[in-house]
Amino acid sequence: MNNTDFKRYTVTSALPYANGPIHIGHLAGVYVPADIYVRYLRSTGKDVLFIGGSDEHGVPITIKARQLGVTPQEIVDKYHGIIKKSFVDFGVSFDIYSRTSNKVHHETAIEFFKTLYDKNDFVEKTSFQYYDEENKQFLADRYITGTCPHCSNEKAYGDQCEKCGTTLNATDLINPRSAISGNQPVMKETKHWFLPLEKYEDFLREWILVSHKDDWKTNVYGQCKSWLDQGLQPRAVTRDLDWGVKLPADIEGGEGKVLYVWFDAPIGYISATKELTPEWEKYWKDKETKLVHFIGKDNIVFHCIIFPAMLKAEGSYILPDNVPANEFMNLEGDKISTSRNWAVWLHEYLEEFPGKQDELRYVLCANAPETKDNDFTWKDYQAKNNNELLAIFGNFVNRTLVLTSKYYEGIVPALGETNDADKTVLDDIKNFPASIAASIESYRFREAINEMMNLARLGNKYLTENEPWKQIKTNPERVKTVLNISLQICANLSIVCEPFLPFTADKLSKMLIITLEKWDKAGSIDLIKEGHQLGAVDFLFQRIEDVDIDKQVQKLLDTKKANEEANVEAKPAKANIEYDDFAKIDIRTGTIIEAVKVPKTKKLLKLTIDTGMDKRTVVSGIAEYYEPENIIGQKVSILVNLAPKDLKGITSQGMILMAENYDGKLCFVAPTETINNGSEVK
Ligand code: MF3
Ligand code: ZN
Repeated sequence: MNNTDFKRYTVTSALPYANGPIHIGHLAGVYVPADIYVRYLRSTGKDVLFIGGSDEHGVPITIKARQLGVTPQEIVDKYHGIIKKSFVDFGVSFDIYSRTSNKVHHETAIEFFKTLYDKNDFVEKTSFQYYDEENKQFLADRYITGTCPHCSNEKAYGDQCEKCGTTLNATDLINPRSAISGNQPVMKETKHWFLPLEKYEDFLREWILVSHKDDWKTNVYGQCKSWLDQGLQPRAVTRDLDWGVKLPADIEGGEGKVLYVWFDAPIGYISATKELTPEWEKYWKDKETKLVHFIGKDNIVFHCIIFPAMLKAEGSYILPDNVPANEFMNLEGDKISTSRNWAVWLHEYLEEFPGKQDELRYVLCANAPETKDNDFTWKDYQAKNNNELLAIFGNFVNRTLVLTSKYYEGIVPALGETNDADKTVLDDIKNFPASIAASIESYRFREAINEMMNLARLGNKYLTENEPWKQIKTNPERVKTVLNISLQICANLSIVCEPFLPFTADKLSKMLIITLEKWDKAGSIDLIKEGHQLGAVDFLFQRIEDVDIDKQVQKLLDTKKANEEANVEAKPAKANIEYDDFAKIDIRTGTIIEAVKVPKTKKLLKLTIDTGMDKRTVVSGIAEYYEPENIIGQKVSILVNLAPKDLKGITSQGMILMAENYDGKLCFVAPTETINNGSEVK
């Protein structure tokens, strides 16, 4: 269906876990694009609900509570409060920000479960699961840790390995341990209900791979296809835990069990809508409603496969029309991590940069990880503020208002006679709203915000070309026209920037003393009338100085150092060897002279090393940490008498010595002084 065919919109954004505050990764991936989309729809007069809330169940919350010696309820109360307030302060315009510990949510989730249960949609299965005998508790999901069978990460969880991203079953883990006691778990029998996903495979293939082939983002489509191609398995929707939505008493064998968090959480979108309006059903059950889920890439399978299968099984709900998931935003080159405190926290940003919501919204949108992971750096934040928001948008508005105030005491001059160049500009103004809208409607927010800025660029160029500050002496009539047109551009900017920069839109319209109009007025060249008195001129944006940025960079360096110190726990030494054993090893100094990626691998680089004796090929597993072009000339230590080995069809002659940092990054072990290649390391 085309957008015009929809009567109303239900827009959801992933419910963040209430076990930590919101950071820029959440914002760039989910909340900024969702808010832009919703504000745009509202501006075009659409009937839209924007649904959010905290996800308050799940094992990470109970683990955190246990670590801190408080109740899970205390944890979620604290973070729900912080998150909710920071969203309000940041201008995320939810119609409701609810929480899954609410009564209405528990009732709604149970009703949903019961409907499927009564229709015999679940498969009941008794199986053996890990159990911690000391704590008398089954070890679901993150309660169990062990070594990942795919990447050997020793800290993989029972449901997922965060290092390689693989979804796991607890029984896949090598050397499983209870996360509570560290004990080796035992196996104990327990009954659970499973959603037989394989039954929905045909429907999902048709719905996603055929019907949405052209309108879903390629990253989303690709993940779905790979899941479907692997074949779907039954998925347990209950857990042996005491924190969560408890199964009702009339379900036989349900005591002591709760719904799996990924079963109840998406139903949270529905319960929140119920809480918001008695008319909730039309937002969830009417085919003329467009349902859109904004999420991050780690949520794709849940929103595109599992939740739709649940909705389909239930039978009375609509399915999402689109799930525009984003990739991840990194921070200064490293993955954002709540546990490592590697993040820019929204509530801290709001305190440290008061009144600068739009500056962050701008940077996160202009740099959004729409098609690939992206990096937030403070230098880029400063550059985008100073060179774009301030130098283009702010400067244009400021020049226009200052000149109008100087020449006409802030009273809008008449348009007067227009020349060809004016007419072209007036025509251009008319075209902006449609092109910005087209980008927003196809979820290309970076493109949209850039197009919005192009309107400011147009204004700047127009002023520069017409030089009203010179013309005022020779041709004062002309200046009236130029400033009238420039003011129309300012007024247009206030409308089209609103979805992206709502605080700026508000400030700008107040400076112009006009009501902030809706989208249908954008494109008009008569938004401010001749004779209208403008308000006092103020700056829309301020220069961000090096000291402010240095402070933030220092804060991150401090975090990094603290992490390093906290985490360094050197492994015990291996058993002693004799000197003769060591003497067999031939390690030399060398230099990397060529480096290329090994095709179809993530980790491997093919290196050519000058060893002083020869130039040889070494295949090395460092591609995740180094770009080939950046390591040409790098000094290395190389084990030269390791028996050659074929890797991906390449013969590797030796091994580069690397040391593993606390965070898993591999670092070169190389001479620090100038030394000739081929020197023996002994
Ligand atoms: N809490 C989940 C996360 O942060 C997202 C839940 S989205 C919902 O990854 F649909 F389940 F609500
Ligand atoms: Zn792994």
